[in-house]
Amino acid sequence: MRSDTAPAIRLEDYSPAPYTIKAVALDMQLAPKATQVHARLTIRRLTDTLPGTPLVLDGGGLELTSLSVNGAAIPVESYTVTPDKLELLSPPSEPFELEIGTRIDPDANTQLEGLYRSSGTYCTQCEAEGFRRITYFLDRPDVLAVYTTRIEARKSEAPILLGNGNPVESGPVPDKPERHFAIWHDPHPKPSYLFAMVAGDLAHVADSFTTRSGRNVDLKIYVEHGREDKCDWAMDSLKRSMRWDEEVFGCEYDLDVFNIVAVSDFNMGAMENKGLNIFNDKYVLADQDTATDQDYANIEAVIAHEYFHNWTGNRITCRDWFQLCLKEGLTVFRDQEFSSDMRSRAVKRISDVRLLKSHQFPEDAGPLAHPVRPRKYTEINNFYTATVYEKGAEVVRMLKTLVGAEGFKAGTDLYFQRHDGEATTIEAFLASFAEVSGQDLSHFALWYEQAGTPLVEVESSYDATAQSLTLKISQEIAPLPGQADSKPAVIPIRFGLIGSDGADMAFENVEGAEVRQDCLILSQRRQTVRFSGVSERPALSLLRGFSAPVKLHAPEKDQDLAFRAAHDSDPFNRWQASQTLATQSLLRLVRAAEAGEELVADSVVLDVFGSILSDGSLDPAFRALSLQLPGEADLAREIGKNVDPTAVLKARDALRAALGSTHMDLLRAALSQRESGPFDPGAEAAGKRALANQALAYFAASGASDAALIVNDLFDRADNMTDRLAALTLLVHGDLPGAQAALEAFRNRHETSSLALDKWFMVQATAPLSSTLKTVRDLAGHRLFDENNPNRVRSLVHAFATGNPSQFGRPDGAGFSFVADHVLALDARNPQVAARLLTCFRSWRAYEAQRSSHAEAALQRISEAENLSRDSRDIVDRCLQ
Ligand code: PHE
Ligand code: ZN
Repeated sequence: MRSDTAPAIRLEDYSPAPYTIKAVALDMQLAPKATQVHARLTIRRLTDTLPGTPLVLDGGGLELTSLSVNGAAIPVESYTVTPDKLELLSPPSEPFELEIGTRIDPDANTQLEGLYRSSGTYCTQCEAEGFRRITYFLDRPDVLAVYTTRIEARKSEAPILLGNGNPVESGPVPDKPERHFAIWHDPHPKPSYLFAMVAGDLAHVADSFTTRSGRNVDLKIYVEHGREDKCDWAMDSLKRSMRWDEEVFGCEYDLDVFNIVAVSDFNMGAMENKGLNIFNDKYVLADQDTATDQDYANIEAVIAHEYFHNWTGNRITCRDWFQLCLKEGLTVFRDQEFSSDMRSRAVKRISDVRLLKSHQFPEDAGPLAHPVRPRKYTEINNFYTATVYEKGAEVVRMLKTLVGAEGFKAGTDLYFQRHDGEATTIEAFLASFAEVSGQDLSHFALWYEQAGTPLVEVESSYDATAQSLTLKISQEIAPLPGQADSKPAVIPIRFGLIGSDGADMAFENVEGAEVRQDCLILSQRRQTVRFSGVSERPALSLLRGFSAPVKLHAPEKDQDLAFRAAHDSDPFNRWQASQTLATQSLLRLVRAAEAGEELVADSVVLDVFGSILSDGSLDPAFRALSLQLPGEADLAREIGKNVDPTAVLKARDALRAALGSTHMDLLRAALSQRESGPFDPGAEAAGKRALANQALAYFAASGASDAALIVNDLFDRADNMTDRLAALTLLVHGDLPGAQAALEAFRNRHETSSLALDKWFMVQATAPLSSTLKTVRDLAGHRLFDENNPNRVRSLVHAFATGNPSQFGRPDGAGFSFVADHVLALDARNPQVAARLLTCFRSWRAYEAQRSSHAEAALQRISEAENLSRDSRDIVDRCLQ
């Protein structure tokens, strides 16, 4: 039997709840299989609600144990209750106290929403709709209440008891010598999704921070015993985030304590619960031996992200879940800016755009496309997407470009001041910027409403006699499900005209589009823009800094790209020029591979990469990024339809081998420059490691006779995870001698670090070898595999599905079938993680016929399964529609 499709929830149907909850007093008596929750809610009828209007509270699989109004038990005929709903048929018209008892089973909670246990620690996850799995409530973000939480547990089981806000009281429970309690009070009214509590036997590290107005804040990071020495980087990142937010956004912390708890079973990255952030331990724990440089960068960014939510999300929250980007897009923008200030701005921008293109662009081009602010959903958990987060951040970035840095600062100041303590909307956010800048942002607002990535096409022509440059520009979004045609958007295109000396040229005048400083503001379907007073034919540098999330097609000769790869004054576009050059060349190789021809790499690409490799004046991190070829998935996206991932892999391998053998001497030189000395996790040292490992990768690809020896040697000598994992990856992915021994050594060394073991699974899952599917099947039965741990599932099945295009997309369909089996098995226990895994099928229509029919069959099989969760049902239906 097919599960019923849940009804869609629509933005246009929004209306406030008829009642509001002003205060919540929770008492949680913790026990592994039967936790007793007692909630006392102070409820008020809204003035325009008719007396006697029923009060409907949300529940999620709850068992009601008691119910009273103003201290008196209420008769059974005055309410109805199911596990998912509690309805008071005729509540008092004056403010009243509703007391609700519920019983829940944390141990049985495998979906990791609501109250659950992770390695014995009680913890909660309430965003988006998990609070209703703890007690009956108006579980929606526009109901803001002051929470007091009393937590009681066995002292031996949970010596640490944490809640939101500030600690108030704690001590032994009278007459129950084995139990103790703690009371926490959060003075800031908040929506239920920000509620949290933690209880367990945890160790911690402590520090403190003094805010600029002199408030002393106790900072603590709680982890499992024995992991205290892996918290330094997270703590340091936290203190830097707190200072930065004061300096850049004027946002100060507002409680006496800030606690972070790291747990090993978590569906997402981390959660910004007020004063009590709960983290996937992957974004907290780091040391030289187990964390890569990428892990360090991610920890810094996620710690900052969750901390920044204290203002953008918590103090000012979302009116409804359609406004999710109000907090997420803005907070991602803020954490990107933070990392840019901590590291190289250019390198950060390039990394962010790579991520946007690899994750958000395919989402925006396929069956799961949706606007940054969706208009309808059936399961909100499926809308924590790259579009809401990453494209949402791009929209904020464009807003800053349009109103200018000062206008942006004034706009955020006004937004914070005007909406503090409110649950609000994108309209209110935009109005703050419109007001301070005097600009009409109504056309810009389309970025929140319209799905799809605009394709901007530019044709340029230079007239030497008239000294003018003409650009014919068009913008268009291809039709999407539910969006047959599109409207032209406001698109800020930062640009430069580069002269033959490599410097940006001046021009006299521009007609046909508004220009603000170095930015062309497009707003129409078709525009002809004419620059006059241009003294020679320029190399055109468009979309500098990736000033808008669009696909740019501006045909350019290889020679011009090579010139810009060496001379563009904008580092982003310098990188983009080398990438575009490599992409064009790779696409030619893919066609040759499909035709069974010999694969000969273009010399211009080999030359440009050689110059980057040998240019010691460039930042090593930038060089490492510029030397990375577009990934297999990036190429598949460029090809767009009839994709044959085997041909893509062959083309990429051919170019890598050619780069390796052409530049053998430069590579050997780069390898010998690998630095030794004490480990430093900072961006500069990380950049050098990235460059050395990139060089090693090409060296290995060259097939040099001593390549395996050198890679094995690095593996043995590495004193940090970045280098060790880089070497292991080259051995395993290149199927080099020593690979199996290295895998075994790695596993033995890291047997007790589950985050390091995740990497062991991931390296094997992403190997582009025909034997990989068998390996991955075996690993799914390995004693170290754990289907209940989301990180472990992601490191094996997800990594295979998203990080191994040629093997997931095997022509026999066995890769699809394997992933479908896991989606189905997982769906019964953790629908959120299952549904996310299922999204890896979203580009199935882009495959050539044989593969796409296999992928469709796998989706069909999932669709026909009995009792599919609402989460997976939603994704599979949209994929097949
Ligand atoms: N709100 C979290 C963040 O972005 C993400 C999250 C969503 C975590 C839902 C858990 C559940 O910071
Ligand atoms: Zn967030």
